[in-house]
Amino acid sequence: MKILVTGGRGMLGRTLCRRLGARHEMVVADLPEWDVLDAESFMEKSATLGPDAIVHCAAMTKVDDCETNEELAFALNETGTRNVAMAAAACGARLIAISTDYVFSGEPPREPWAWSETDVPAPRTVYGKSKLAGERMAQLVCPDSVVLRIAWLYGAGGPSFVHTMARLGREGGAPLKVVDDQRGNPTSADEVSGVVEFLLSHPEVSGVVHGTCENQCSWYGLAKEVFSLLGLRRGIVPCSTEEFPRPAPRPRNSALKKGVLNRLGYRTRDWREALGVFVRGEFPQEAR
Ligand SMILES: NC(=O)c1ccc[n+]([C@@H]2O[C@H](COP(=O)([O-])OP(=O)(O)OC[C@H]3O[C@@H](n4cnc5c(N)ncnc54)[C@H](OP(=O)(O)O)[C@@H]3O)[C@@H](O)[C@H]2O)c1
Repeated sequence: MKILVTGGRGMLGRTLCRRLGARHEMVVADLPEWDVLDAESFMEKSATLGPDAIVHCAAMTKVDDCETNEELAFALNETGTRNVAMAAAACGARLIAISTDYVFSGEPPREPWAWSETDVPAPRTVYGKSKLAGERMAQLVCPDSVVLRIAWLYGAGGPSFVHTMARLGREGGAPLKVVDDQRGNPTSADEVSGVVEFLLSHPEVSGVVHGTCENQCSWYGLAKEVFSLLGLRRGIVPCSTEEFPRPAPRPRNSALKKGVLNRLGYRTRDWREALGVFVRGEFPQEAR
């Protein structure tokens, strides 16, 4: 398959191109050569290339920056997605549009909880609202599309929470406070790449698909696991969201249920297992 990856030099895009590159022809579509905001040029270039599929990763991903630059967030996450969807529809390519757990309110009706593909989104941040608008554009404009929601992403080279914890843990110092009252599914870019490849081999799947790792934890739980895997001795203590105010409100629980994948017999890895594989590859022994 010939697969165009928007944002192909970003954290997810890089891993996707590496993982799928062994079996498919991957084309990186990233700035400055490919700009998803330039509808005409994006359409022309993709028509010339003739991809079988487009995996749309390009986005404004910094959640707090989206709060202060709403116009740019919607331009990239909504209009940019519309432009990519138009190009995919015009050249008959399947579209896999990457989206996020932030489309949900993050306020679960009860605990334990995980959001289904059929639950009604109710984003509370500009990032979440603009990504939801992008989901709707993808589905409206490109009939052969899948919206793939992922969360708590880390991948080779970062930047990610896992990389930050590894750095802070190695620096040492006073015990590190980490938020313990927000829950989600830590998910490796490798695991998402596996899901994307599975979806590409199942042309009958359309609509919304949740593709995070299995099982959930808090940021504190994730940080503790990173410290333990790296053998870091810095202390670590749980704290509350109130102790860590951020410009954009964070979901209290944004874990995702993998209803569609599970019905197709596909199981993503447990987050601890995927994290272990990642940490061993990303932080070689001598760097720990
Ligand atoms: N990171 C997470 O925790 C997370 C969680 C849930 C969902 N997601 C979703 O997963 C996807 C990938 O995330 P990521 O963390 O890999 O993002 P990322 O590292 O920020 O990569 C995004 C890439 O898109 C490029 N880009 C920006 N504007 C563009 C434009 N106008 N045209 C073409 N390319 C453009 C960026 O280039 P520059 O670097 O030059 O700007 C960057 O290479 C996104 O859709 C995101 O919303 C991420």
